[in-house]
Amino acid sequence: MAPLVQVDSPGQSWAQERVLVRADLNAPLEGAPGGPQRVADDARIRASVATLRYLLDNGAAVAVCSHLGRPKGQRAPELSLAPCAARLSELLGQPVELLPDCMGSEVEARVRALQPGEIVMLENLRFHGEEEANDGAFADRLAAGFTRYVNDAFGAAHRAHASTESVARRLDPSAGLLLAREVEVLGGLLENPDAPFVAVLGGSKVSDKLPLIENLLDRADRILIGGAMCFTFLRALGDPVGTSLHEDEEAQALALRLLDRAGKVNCTLQLPTDILVADRFDAGAELQVVPSDEIPDGWMGVDIGPRTAEAYREVIMGAGTVFWNGPMGAFEIPPFAEGTRAVAEAMAASPAVTVAGGGDSGAALGDMGLADELTWVSTGGGAALELMEGRVLPGVAALPTA
Ligand code: 3PG
Repeated sequence: MAPLVQVDSPGQSWAQERVLVRADLNAPLEGAPGGPQRVADDARIRASVATLRYLLDNGAAVAVCSHLGRPKGQRAPELSLAPCAARLSELLGQPVELLPDCMGSEVEARVRALQPGEIVMLENLRFHGEEEANDGAFADRLAAGFTRYVNDAFGAAHRAHASTESVARRLDPSAGLLLAREVEVLGGLLENPDAPFVAVLGGSKVSDKLPLIENLLDRADRILIGGAMCFTFLRALGDPVGTSLHEDEEAQALALRLLDRAGKVNCTLQLPTDILVADRFDAGAELQVVPSDEIPDGWMGVDIGPRTAEAYREVIMGAGTVFWNGPMGAFEIPPFAEGTRAVAEAMAASPAVTVAGGGDSGAALGDMGLADELTWVSTGGGAALELMEGRVLPGVAALPTA
């Protein structure tokens, strides 16, 4: 798609503007609700800083808004954005006052009084059910007092909500730097990847990943399969999977269709050749590595095996472009994390354009301290996945292109 008009595009001027910035500050919190809470992983908040800094340095007054969790229209104190405002304030090095709501006369008065270079945060948008309903009157009230709108919330761009969609039709809109870069990088993978283009896909269900795999089959040279979804493929091919997580016959039929289609479009759909199996789903389980077509009765696959990990590493090292979505095994349990670690390390070491997004792979890279080694780690979960499925994201479609 044509590049988006972004905050630093030629001709943009921010001096004296009162800007509503939609960011995705939906970060995991730690600490007891009611007691002191803090942001457990600030990756999304850090990723939002560049746009805010740019606007503030260019003379704008800013109110940043976001959702946090899924309070479903209820004012849930444990989902207040207060910990995010505190963290953002530390990152920006200036006060970020949290206003008591995202709209209303008090908020509007505060917005109108904002000075250039000043920033406040509006309280959780989803304390109002009208946000998710994409309610027009709610968008009117959200826009009140502002002169411009910037959407930097890539992680929420797949949601047609009032703050991501309707409000863009009420205030002169632009894309934030993060959202624009996400669309450029992920969209670029679909439009003109350097060959060979390899996708590494994990996760538990073929049925969840069907639109993604279908879209990638036409574009990728090779798709490496890991995660529990490989057991649906293996079962579909008639192999025993023991007690491994796998899907029903309908999903197995889908898996066979994908394998068949891969052959026709000349994309290699590569399955693991060995599997780490455990006698129970527990860090203390007994483990063994077995060929992927010989999983014993009563054992469950919990990770790709070392031979597969090495084969996947070689493919990743020789690729021109790699997109990674989903862990290779149950990586949250340390003895089952080696396959995911091997892929993460290969992504970090590969000379290819390396991009992770759309699920737990970003978290795995963060845990392993490797996120900065990739070309790009998306801040989007569902949004990255939907973009890679070839779908139009409503939050992006609402923004102007250059
Ligand atoms: C996310 O965490 O993926 C985004 O913030 C969107 O959140 P949602 O799935 O609750 O809309």
